[in-house]
Amino acid sequence: MIYLDSAATTFQKPPAVAAAMGRALDTMSSPGRGGHPAAMLAADTAFACRSELAELFGLKNPENVVFTLNATHALNLAIKTLVPLGGRAVISGYEHNAVTRPLRALEAQISVAESPLFSAADAVRAFAENITPETHAVICTHVSNVFGFILPVEEIAALCRRRGVPLVIDASQAAGVLPLDIGALGAAFAAMPGHKGLYGPQGTGVLLCGEGGPPVRTLLEGGTGSVSLQQEMPEFLPDRLEAGTHNMPGIAGLLEGIRYVREQGMEAICRRERELTLLLAEGLRTVSGLRVHALPGLRQQTGVLSVVPEKGDVERLGQQLAERGIAVRTGLHCAPLAHRSAGTLETGTVRLSVSAFNTRREIYETLAVFQELMA
Ligand code: ALA
Repeated sequence: MIYLDSAATTFQKPPAVAAAMGRALDTMSSPGRGGHPAAMLAADTAFACRSELAELFGLKNPENVVFTLNATHALNLAIKTLVPLGGRAVISGYEHNAVTRPLRALEAQISVAESPLFSAADAVRAFAENITPETHAVICTHVSNVFGFILPVEEIAALCRRRGVPLVIDASQAAGVLPLDIGALGAAFAAMPGHKGLYGPQGTGVLLCGEGGPPVRTLLEGGTGSVSLQQEMPEFLPDRLEAGTHNMPGIAGLLEGIRYVREQGMEAICRRERELTLLLAEGLRTVSGLRVHALPGLRQQTGVLSVVPEKGDVERLGQQLAERGIAVRTGLHCAPLAHRSAGTLETGTVRLSVSAFNTRREIYETLAVFQELMA
């Protein structure tokens, strides 16, 4: 299989990830649940993972790193802390349902900072126009999961700081690929999965809580291994948001995924992914009957690329690719707003997305299959 669906989850992981998960099953119990070696090893592993994440994303305190089930869980925590029932939020035109559905559930008044695909300047302008003194939160994806469009989060964060509005960054497609310094940006929260660019297993996610932020609203209450006599959830992080037994095989695997990213270097991973995607985009442009959503030189874009067949439907093309051993994702990618912004809501797209494990050879083979299918 040629796996080009890393925007959904990275499928090829560094071998150390599975090995660590197996070791965790054999050797670890639960952090904070005892002073015996199995509990202590779990506590040390969880702390090591928090520490690596804090260093990578500009947080001083590892305890501000909260483990979640996935990025959706992390986004729900952030959004439901900042936006009250019927409150106001400003979001980019490229948000995922993991942002829009929690806001809908809160019956929030949502202002969309609409901007054309790949235009960073227009995105900043749109946020500036939409943020008002009544805005409870700005929520912005760092990279569109459909188009790989890099939103200018540094400028948007600066705008939020000037206007005194808390910012939530959805780093789902950027974590492990683009640098992100939560401390420097002054963001209230950043949410990310462990299983995409951080190369951990599915079932892992992270909420990064900015220093000095508001007390986070809980979504789940239960045992934390701390202040057991108290019937309210602890006020302090991470315990406040980590009720119940931790996913230690997942956290141990995630730790190895993060170590891989740090060893390779995010910059090197990003460069490699962009080179492969540029090769793909340039090759696909020569295939007749295909519209490729990318600017020349892949400006303002990472390793995620969407294409639309001019005749025929995206599902059929996705199926034909799957039959030839090429894994892609088709349709609306849980992000109808992004498709509306890019003008692909009616058709959906075929999305191809790479990871550090793809090769040039795989890209050439994919291009040959497209040539054959579209002939
Ligand atoms: N949000 C993930 C995707 O884009 C699952 O496919």
